Amino acid sequence: MRGTNVPRMTTALITGATAGIGAAFARRLAAQGHNLVLVARDTARLREQATELHDRHGIEAEVLSADLATDGGIEAVEKRLADRRHPIDLLVNNAGFGNKGRFLEVSMADELTMLKVHCEAVLRLTSAAVAGMRERGRGGVVNVASVAAFVPRGTYGASKSWVVQFTQGAARDLAGSGVRLMALCPGFVRTEFHERAGMGTDNIPNWMWLDADKLVASALTDLTRGKTVSIPDPRYKALMGLVKVAPRGLLGGVTSRTGRKYGPQ
Ligand SMILES: NC(=O)c1ccc[n+]([C@@H]2O[C@H](COP(=O)([O-])OP(=O)(O)OC[C@H]3O[C@@H](n4cnc5c(N)ncnc54)[C@H](OP(=O)(O)O)[C@@H]3O)[C@@H](O)[C@H]2O)c1
Repeated sequence: MRGTNVPRMTTALITGATAGIGAAFARRLAAQGHNLVLVARDTARLREQATELHDRHGIEAEVLSADLATDGGIEAVEKRLADRRHPIDLLVNNAGFGNKGRFLEVSMADELTMLKVHCEAVLRLTSAAVAGMRERGRGGVVNVASVAAFVPRGTYGASKSWVVQFTQGAARDLAGSGVRLMALCPGFVRTEFHERAGMGTDNIPNWMWLDADKLVASALTDLTRGKTVSIPDPRYKALMGLVKVAPRGLLGGVTSRTGRKYGPQ
């Protein structure tokens, strides 16, 4: 990977690459000279982005339209990840979304869709990618979780908690194989996330907002340093330090109020 210590990483596959954090990964990796496979549902937007990154950085950018809330969509990406002739060196499992509302206010269908995209797709795509990476003795996986993983916060927080635990466990199992896995845990990031979920953001203080490009730069540095969990900003590192020592009951009270006002991040 140019500009880092991870050697010979040449093609990265990013899910949720059309907006927000995923688009920031695409910009940064393209600028470093990596070829890309861009995954999301909006084909026109994917094509536009692929053309722009190709024209600006001279890299190859493949478009793979897939809805990761469906078996067919997950299978299409699994197939691409397992293609030994065109290996993927870095997988970024980033696609995700929020559901507005407390438990029981969100429909069961929407809760299950979240688990499909945040957990099942991450499990299946990580497995599909890592099998070949282990054979080649190199590769990386970044699973985008959230600081919501560390506080009681409904299905969203629980799904992100699963991402962190799963990634830490898989990283331990693959230690010494040359494959690095890392869970990325951002706080509030300015993206399309909150607007798409219909969540207001007026009450979120300015200091809590992170910039997607800076977040991604720190995340890739943490990956090269071999971290398995990355909380890329000092403000959130400090907050999560407090969360570790705060009583669970108190956290539950705070997040059940602020979580619904601000929405999950
Ligand atoms: N923004 C925050 O404050 C924040 C904080 C912590 C963690 N995160 C996490 O960061 C990740 C990215 O979120 P973001 O803030 O960048 O959100 P975003 O700006 O809304 O982007 C979400 C991306 O995911 C894609 N996507 C959504 N559902 C999909 C599906 N079913 N299949 C395939 N692609 C899908 C979207 O593209 P299409 O619509 O074209 O499919 C889009 O490219 C998520 O996992 C989120 O939970 C966000």
